[in-house]
Order: sequence, then structure tokens, then C-alpha cells
Amino acid sequence: MSALFLRQVLHRAVTEAAADYNGSTLQEAVVSYYSHHVFFCLNQREPGADRPSCANCNAQAMQEHAKKRVKQLGLAGAGKVRINKAGCLDRCEEGPVLVVYPEGVWYTYFDKTDIDEIIDSHLVRGEPVSRLMI
Ligand code: FES
Repeated sequence: MSALFLRQVLHRAVTEAAADYNGSTLQEAVVSYYSHHVFFCLNQREPGADRPSCANCNAQAMQEHAKKRVKQLGLAGAGKVRINKAGCLDRCEEGPVLVVYPEGVWYTYFDKTDIDEIIDSHLVRGEPVSRLMI
């Protein structure tokens, strides 16, 4: 069996499964569950590691702040925003990092002011914050 044939079979199976998903396409089903999905790297390396760790830059407190603020603003939940923890996103030297999907916009941040700006500008107004983008 060729790789092309297998890819065609897989494509057909996914397409048929998607068509069965409430009559929507798979992409619509996946994209529509959250308007934005935000992943904060909370990775912690051992002391003396040769790469930095986002956890050493207050990442957990910033993730918790974002989650709380999104909830306070009424932005949390299906069809809206989800704030998640993530392991290493492999941009350690640019950290601390977070990434916002579906746009795939990457940010670094320093404090709650930066997090609030990302929420207010990107998540609420749809305007990415260029000064924090990496
Ligand atoms: S430790 Fe955060 S991106 Fe690697």
C-alpha cells in the first residue's frame, strides 16, 4: 500500500466523520468550541539546567491571574476563551511564553499589566499586542 493511498483513505475517513458531526465540517467543530485557546508554558527545569524555565519567571502566577481575569470578564467557557497550562513550548530563551490560538500568536510578558493588555487587546478587541509578540 502506498503512502498516497493511505493518505487518501485517511482523508476520506476524516471527511466522513466530520460530515457526521452535527452537519458541520471537522474544522468548524474544532474551531468553534473556544474562540481563543491560550497556553502558558509552566515548565520547570532542574537547577543548573542549560536552558531557562518559564516557571522561574512567575509563569504560574501569571497563568492563574489570566484565568481569574478572563472569568471575571465573563469571557471563560465554551465558545469563548480557555486559559490552559502547558509544558515546555520550546521557545525557552524567549520566555516566559504563552501562545494564543487559533491565530498562533506568541507572546512574552513581564507582569500582570502585560497579561491584562493581552486579554484586553487580543482576546477582547481582536488586536494582537505587537510590543509583546515574539
Ligand atoms: S520552558 Fe517555557 S518554552 Fe521552554
